[in-house]
Amino acid sequence: CGIVGYVGHRDAVPVLLEGLHRLEYRGYDSAGVALVHRGRLKVHKAAVRVRELREQVGKAPGVVGIAHTRWATHGEVTDVNAHPHTDTSGRFAVVHNGIVENSDELRAKLQASGVTLVSETDTEALSHLIAAAAESHETLEEAVRAALRGVEGTYGLVVLDARRPTELVVARNGSPIVLGVGEGEMFIASDVAALVRHTQRVVYLEDGEIATVRAGDFQTTGREETVELADEDYQLGEFTDFMRKEMAEQPEAVRRALRGRLDSRFATAHLGGLRLDPRDLRDVRRVKFLGCGTAYYAGQIGANLVEELARIPADAEPASEFRYRNPVVDSDTLYVAISQSGETLDTLAAVQELKRKGGNVIGAVNVVGSAVARECGSGVFLHAGPEVSVASTKAFTNMTVSFAMLALLLGRVRDLSAAHGSRLVTALQALPDQIASILEADDEVAAIASKYAQAQHMFFIGRVRGWPVAREGAQKLKEISYVHAEAYQAAELKHGPLALIDAQMPSVVVVPQDELLAKNIGTIEQIKARGGPVIAVTNASLPEGLADAVIQVPRNEPELDPILLTIPLQMLAYHVAAALGRDIDKPRNLAKSVTVE
Ligand code: G6P
Repeated sequence: CGIVGYVGHRDAVPVLLEGLHRLEYRGYDSAGVALVHRGRLKVHKAAVRVRELREQVGKAPGVVGIAHTRWATHGEVTDVNAHPHTDTSGRFAVVHNGIVENSDELRAKLQASGVTLVSETDTEALSHLIAAAAESHETLEEAVRAALRGVEGTYGLVVLDARRPTELVVARNGSPIVLGVGEGEMFIASDVAALVRHTQRVVYLEDGEIATVRAGDFQTTGREETVELADEDYQLGEFTDFMRKEMAEQPEAVRRALRGRLDSRFATAHLGGLRLDPRDLRDVRRVKFLGCGTAYYAGQIGANLVEELARIPADAEPASEFRYRNPVVDSDTLYVAISQSGETLDTLAAVQELKRKGGNVIGAVNVVGSAVARECGSGVFLHAGPEVSVASTKAFTNMTVSFAMLALLLGRVRDLSAAHGSRLVTALQALPDQIASILEADDEVAAIASKYAQAQHMFFIGRVRGWPVAREGAQKLKEISYVHAEAYQAAELKHGPLALIDAQMPSVVVVPQDELLAKNIGTIEQIKARGGPVIAVTNASLPEGLADAVIQVPRNEPELDPILLTIPLQMLAYHVAAALGRDIDKPRNLAKSVTVE
């Protein structure tokens, strides 16, 4: 979900709606705004996109307001469930991200005291609680503080009181709130993306903090910082959608991730943010990668790289599983928490669980200053730049590149030879241009995609190095095209899934040029023998006519194959989704960062 607030001297509506538009990738099933005009609250909200809300609101006056774009958790996607939520008298309005865990209990208590709740949300309870607390507290801040005392769960919220049109009260516990400092005006948002158009001066609220924000003053414990992002970073420019833009940015993003980190002389990588010296690195007996969705698949590639290059046992696990299964935490395991946004609640909770148990955890995070980055305190920043499309592309690629460097570093304090290290340094340096050359084959991939776009289901097949690639490929296709895709380990096909192969079931087979090439060719033959169409994604030269379509990528060191082989799968998913007319950047039911359970 996304939050925006404004208090100042301008018309609030354009500021709020423009802000919402920037945050729409965080949730887009409904949107709303609340303003104060002549001492009265005006609320416009509906289960619509920001574009339509803009038409509904028109030119509403007011120099203070709050706004929200929602990703449903409590309650269906309806107009009433959209934020802002108000109390019965219509004096207080609240926008909220996060989840109130004792919502049922609070709602029942409110109902017992005679309050009629109109929505099914947890947030509405907050507005009634604040209204009740306001009766016995002098300031809005005190009322909010009192109301939140009985609230369990996570929140980032902004409260507007029709009788106090010169201030907004903000509170944070687990869901980010950032203030944008202007000249005689203040901006509030859940993500800097909504602010950078107006100011680069920001203050992050700390967890547990509640503050009053007025046009000319605010008091928080956090210090003012300058963000390096500008509004252009969030604009489409010449592109039709962010996924395409972000795919195209990959060569540059990888260059940024590598900059200053490769050491040709000693054939290793420098990752200063890890804060681990060679002795610490040598003490690592196991590496475990934790993340959700695409970040988890990147972790699987990371685990393979660490095992191959450093010969340290490594694996990846969804952070959501890890946090709930009472994991055994070893002091000599290096845990890596992976997250583009740095806000995914399950990943953050896994980090907190690890810290409680004395685990040694580093972050692999894109957003500087985010919760996971701060909680970990050390790690490797991905430097992919802002990623807006829900389907992650450049952040994924930079995760894998960062793990290649981590594996190289861990390898070089062990048995990885200087010669092998040196080959890898050169290989990493070659990646940006190689990725650019893969992206050039866009028309070819689009043609293949349009040929198979009508399929109801697709298999994505890979083994060993190709396996996480296949999983990420299936994930990309599912999330943006809604075509059912299932990833399978190549040799497991014969133990069940082969039964599904027929002319209507295309298989995308990932075929690295490695020691398993012959095995993968065998897999393709097995699929073909049962009449299944095959799209091969490969850096090997496959026998003529083996596959129905071949997407060729350049060769590099075999350990880095997964990085290059994933790029065409992003392109394939993109073009299938485009052929089916999907809303590529905002796939249904999803959101960019899932800050709830
Ligand atoms: C959401 C997004 C996915 C993403 C996952 C993890 O589910 O839709 O694209 O991979 O969260 O996000 P993170 O920001 O932690 O990398």
